[in-house]
Amino acid sequence: MIRVAILGATGSIGRSTLRVIGRHPDRFRVVGLAAGRSVDDLAALVAEYTPDIAVLADADALVGRSDVPRAGWELGDDAVVALAEHPDVDVVVNAVVGAAGLASTIAALRSGKRLALANKESLVAGGPLVTAAADEGGGELIPIDSEHSAILQCLQGCDRGTVGRIVLTASGGPFRALSRDELATVTPAQALKHPTWEMGAKITIDSATLANKALEMIEAHFLYGLSYDRIDAVIHPQSIVHSFVEFVDGSVLAQMGFPTMELPILYALTYPERLADTELCTFDPVKASPLTFDEIDLARFRLFALGVEAGRAGGTMPAVYNAANETAVSFFLEGRIGFLEMGEVVETAMSRHSVSPIEQVADVMEADREARDMVREMTAAQHPGSAT
Ligand SMILES: NC(=O)c1ccc[n+]([C@@H]2O[C@H](COP(=O)([O-])OP(=O)(O)OC[C@H]3O[C@@H](n4cnc5c(N)ncnc54)[C@H](OP(=O)(O)O)[C@@H]3O)[C@@H](O)[C@H]2O)c1
Repeated sequence: MIRVAILGATGSIGRSTLRVIGRHPDRFRVVGLAAGRSVDDLAALVAEYTPDIAVLADADALVGRSDVPRAGWELGDDAVVALAEHPDVDVVVNAVVGAAGLASTIAALRSGKRLALANKESLVAGGPLVTAAADEGGGELIPIDSEHSAILQCLQGCDRGTVGRIVLTASGGPFRALSRDELATVTPAQALKHPTWEMGAKITIDSATLANKALEMIEAHFLYGLSYDRIDAVIHPQSIVHSFVEFVDGSVLAQMGFPTMELPILYALTYPERLADTELCTFDPVKASPLTFDEIDLARFRLFALGVEAGRAGGTMPAVYNAANETAVSFFLEGRIGFLEMGEVVETAMSRHSVSPIEQVADVMEADREARDMVREMTAAQHPGSAT
């Protein structure tokens, strides 16, 4: 029996994980569930899955909520980290959104667990610390992102020294055909309508700006130890091919399937075993046709180009890119800045930052705080009427 803790249980990946686990009760047991501030959703999941441990990160969300049955709940960010390193847990699914997931990522790996990682922001912001934690503690980092799961699947049974390059696919989001002028006026409601994936709000906006693909390039760099010259990305609107691996002899492997996060989640839980799951056996090449591929337009999707620059700069720059982007996305969703302004504020934050190496978590936190403050100040200066 694999004992699983899900951090970010109330979100899109968290719930998909619970659906997968629910279909295999003989293989998995939910021992811990953690959420941010969705008190009612967490209470409902606790009632349904009866985990040994339930954690709410934001204790303030419980103020005035004496109606919620919460016997045994742990509260606070430290309790989320404690769940990530709990001795009764075999696999930690980190499905928290944003750099807030970094401490748990490090804790799970340092305590020798398998970390099924959806929270790409933690690897982007603190890549060197995350890989060091895995080395120190013997933890195992298995990606949940469909592109990185595709690469892992293509790499099975091969000599990693024979990999030439990898190519990540991107749906291109809802705006892939819009001009820059048209992009300037898109609304949060339009950006939240993703054509092929149903996901949480932050990653849906990142998919519309293609910041998500840049985050994934940085993620791939740390997961597979490849230089940025050997990581490419292409637009593939159908989201059927989840990524390619090209080997040194020119042979190319791809992993395919209709878009569902349940497949990479199941694979991350059972890797390298493949567990039979008839719900996921739906592929039909005729329905999947046609498959098309296009280059990414760097001028229209500035946040993609900036993210790759941040990855290449290394050190604290990916943390700055990530934090500036997280803040910009939340301001866009609140209607405080426009779609293209997200790229502008991230670019300014990066241009004002002096890169330094990452040696400890405090280095990441400092770069993260600096970037968030810069975006807040820029937004307040450019939109003095908008709330702070
Ligand atoms: N959704 C997808 O299909 C998909 C695909 C690939 C990768 N990912 C990655 O997976 C991660 C989660 O994405 P999502 O779409 O599932 O997001 P989501 O639906 O917005 O869910 C985010 C989850 O994180 C929790 N959370 C927020 N802050 C927290 C904190 N400080 N401590 C503990 N939990 C906290 C939220 O809890 P509350 O709701 O209670 O606040 C919620 O359960 C992201 O990094 C995303 O990039 C997602």
